[in-house]
Amino acid sequence: MKISFANPSKPKTGAVVVGVLDGRKLTASAKALDKATKGAITKAIKASSFKGAKNHTLSIMTPPGTRLERVLCVGLGKPKDLGERDLETLGGRIYSHLRAQSATATVQLDDIDGCKLSADAQAVHVGLGARLGSYRFDKYKTKKKGHDKATLKALNIQCAGSAKAKRAFSSANKVADGVFMTRDLVSEPSNVLYPKTLADQAKTLAKLGVKVEVLGRAKLEKLGMGALLGVAQGSEKEPFVVVMHWNGNKGAKGKAAKPVAFVGKGVTFDTGGISLKPSGGMEDMKYDMGGSAVVIGLMKALAGRKAKVNAVGVVGLVENMPSGTAQRPGDIVTSMSGQTIEVLNTDAEGRLVLADALCYTKERFKPQVMIDLATLTGAIVVTLGGEYAGLFSNSDSLSADIEAAGKATGDKVWRLPMNSAYDKMINSPAADMQNISSTRGGGSITAAQFLKRFVGTTKWAHLDIAGVAWNKKGTPVSPKGGTGFGVRLLDRLVADKFEA
Ligand code: BES
Ligand code: MN
Ligand code: ZN
Repeated sequence: MKISFANPSKPKTGAVVVGVLDGRKLTASAKALDKATKGAITKAIKASSFKGAKNHTLSIMTPPGTRLERVLCVGLGKPKDLGERDLETLGGRIYSHLRAQSATATVQLDDIDGCKLSADAQAVHVGLGARLGSYRFDKYKTKKKGHDKATLKALNIQCAGSAKAKRAFSSANKVADGVFMTRDLVSEPSNVLYPKTLADQAKTLAKLGVKVEVLGRAKLEKLGMGALLGVAQGSEKEPFVVVMHWNGNKGAKGKAAKPVAFVGKGVTFDTGGISLKPSGGMEDMKYDMGGSAVVIGLMKALAGRKAKVNAVGVVGLVENMPSGTAQRPGDIVTSMSGQTIEVLNTDAEGRLVLADALCYTKERFKPQVMIDLATLTGAIVVTLGGEYAGLFSNSDSLSADIEAAGKATGDKVWRLPMNSAYDKMINSPAADMQNISSTRGGGSITAAQFLKRFVGTTKWAHLDIAGVAWNKKGTPVSPKGGTGFGVRLLDRLVADKFEA
């Protein structure tokens, strides 16, 4: 679907979308269209229960006096309550209403008294919502019929100041490209997407100017990544660490700014290993590489919109399988940091992968901040469900910045505590630490405490996205499946806090 922007004019064909405010109050565009259709809108509203409440719609077929297919009235609610998120939801809803109905549609937006967003700002968010809502992962469906088939080819958004909207949208749309890549990667099944093929996907970013390095098993052995390699050892698939560099801030005379680093868990399938998971729902573990998919999608977004930042993305890619060569409960491995780990449960593998990926990133790049993302614990799903990602950090200021980016984008995060009492729970009698707590409770926190032992004094935050990476129900802006949660969040963090 092509999304375009134009200044207001009279649409002649296709579908037209106009806004109605709370209390059946027509926007300027709705009034003009009502006039052109001999009062069809006011009549239809009178004959229905539609009052202009947010998220309500009213469809009018073949209105008189025009050659339009339909008019879709969308409720905007009260002007003062109309925010960016609402407009994105609206864009998504407009898309799903029209996707299998019309070929072209025009959305007419207005400056509204009492609304904080001008018509051109509204337009950007409606466009972004429509784009995000248009995502489908249907490449393995060989027969598409009826409602599966999208007919909507062009969405034209009209507003005053459309040139400004067009510019802002083109940058937002690059971020949406990143979100789509993350959704695609998360949705791929594990027979297709495994460490090697995921690394190949990361390599495709080279065409956007991202430098991509792929480290294979020999190199990881040389680096001493015993924790990551221990997880990989039960699988036939070779593990990889992929490093992506986006150098958008060259700095003054060779003094390039220190990078911002993003680190992702990329377990392409998590059976649990010898501590085997129950079979019910195990298919979900194809998205256990969700953290790495966000890092890759984020690098795509940053490069796509040419962000003025130096960013590195590091992903640890492994498959966690049970086999004759798999690591056993009780094995003790030596991580790249030199610290030893007693592996009491082979299903607590994400933290083992991240231990080495975090240590490598901090030592090689000495980043200003380091943020990791991982589908790390089932406990975070119990704690926060699918609404918020868990945030853990050793820095109040970085946490506040991430929370602010969450509010600004709708990728919501909730900070949870860390302290030495939780840290003690992962001390091992046999090694420097054990990979699970010996006591019950606080499972997401003890996982975060484990990661903290590998970040040194680097400003660091960990996002546990186990509950938010996948969405079983779907929303107007995020159809069922991979959500891409984290791409918009961290893109916004970079834009607000780290760009030159
Ligand atoms: N990949 C899982 C966590 C997960 C659960 C991701 C649900 C997405 C949805 C992780 O590797 C895991 O198995 N964690 C264990 C840790 C436990 C053994 C301490 C868990 O949460 O049960
Ligand atoms: Mn696991
Ligand atoms: Zn896992």
